[in-house]
Amino acid sequence: MIEKNVSLKPYNTFGLSAQAKLMARVVDVPSLQSVLSDASLVNEERFILGGGSNILLTKDVDALVIKNEIDGIALVEETSDSFFVKSGAGVVWHNLVLHCIEKGYAGIENLSLIPGNVGAAPMQNIGAYGVELKDVFSSLEAVDIASGKIHHFDSNACEFGYRESVFKRKLRGEFVITAVTLRLDKTPKLNTTYGAIEQELERLNISSPTLETVSQAVINIRQSKLPNPKVLGNSGSFFKNPVVETAKYEELKKKSANIPGYPAGDKTKLAAGWLIEQCGWKGKVVGNTGSHAQQALVLVNYGNATGVEIFELSEQIMYSVYNTFGVQLEKEVNVY
Ligand code: EPU
Repeated sequence: MIEKNVSLKPYNTFGLSAQAKLMARVVDVPSLQSVLSDASLVNEERFILGGGSNILLTKDVDALVIKNEIDGIALVEETSDSFFVKSGAGVVWHNLVLHCIEKGYAGIENLSLIPGNVGAAPMQNIGAYGVELKDVFSSLEAVDIASGKIHHFDSNACEFGYRESVFKRKLRGEFVITAVTLRLDKTPKLNTTYGAIEQELERLNISSPTLETVSQAVINIRQSKLPNPKVLGNSGSFFKNPVVETAKYEELKKKSANIPGYPAGDKTKLAAGWLIEQCGWKGKVVGNTGSHAQQALVLVNYGNATGVEIFELSEQIMYSVYNTFGVQLEKEVNVY
């Protein structure tokens, strides 16, 4: 069924008001294919919506919004050391994490509580606390919007990078991801090296961590720093952490000795949150929006913000970081 003039406010984690001209909810591959081939809709622009956690809506969506509600989690293969778990793209990412922890499938516990749906996870190679989706990725299924045919992508074909994949670059707008298969470990290789996790486990008095307790530590850290989108609209990190030439980092260090920098190949990854904080934006409220008081990298909607207002704030922040440090920030969210 095609719905008309649908409010997108409940479907974007910024909680922004925008109307979709048309909306189709798809629950499986055949229903998606039938929407894509519907003769009465072929002239409509298509807009694929997952969990709406990485989108800044600056205007109404004059298009056919295809809301991906493809559900289902299944163990599809088992080897001596791995579980292969296939999930529908419309599954809430954190529900997949909880399911895997309960079943003892290891590898995504550090990715607990990341907002959004499974389909968006490979799109931007989600990552947190030393783990990225690509570390556990096996393959995905996606439907070609033009032909309606199913394609399979392995890790190479996805061209994963830091918050990047082929679906954000050369194949942008061409495919709808319908299912993702992860390769998870039977014997957990817990990754607690990220400073904050170690500290949190210590605070919880846990000396032999498990999948559950690492997940709980990550949840506690996230809840202490990142606003809950159900309470305060946001889309997680608004910007990417910029990767600069190491010579540039050394030059910045001469002026600001304590500037954080992490090796990224032969380059250096800077902390965007630190740069934004140094420019005085952290916790600053500008009209209905602002940079969050606990994590400068997160822009929030205090209730009545428009997408344009948040966009303008982001441009001002980018301008001031560039002016102060000569570093160009890049948005992580998709602006529509
Ligand atoms: N920092 C500041 N001020 C701030 C925020 C951060 O000085 O307001 C400094 C911290 O002190 C620390 C460094 O920046 O030295 C890194 O901070 P943090 O560990 O909080 O992580 P992040 O680099 O700001 C990234 C991801 C997050 C992910 C965390 C944890 C990106 C763009 N963001 O943030 O991902 O949860 O690491 O792994 O890579 C997201 O993508 O939406 C997201 C939340």
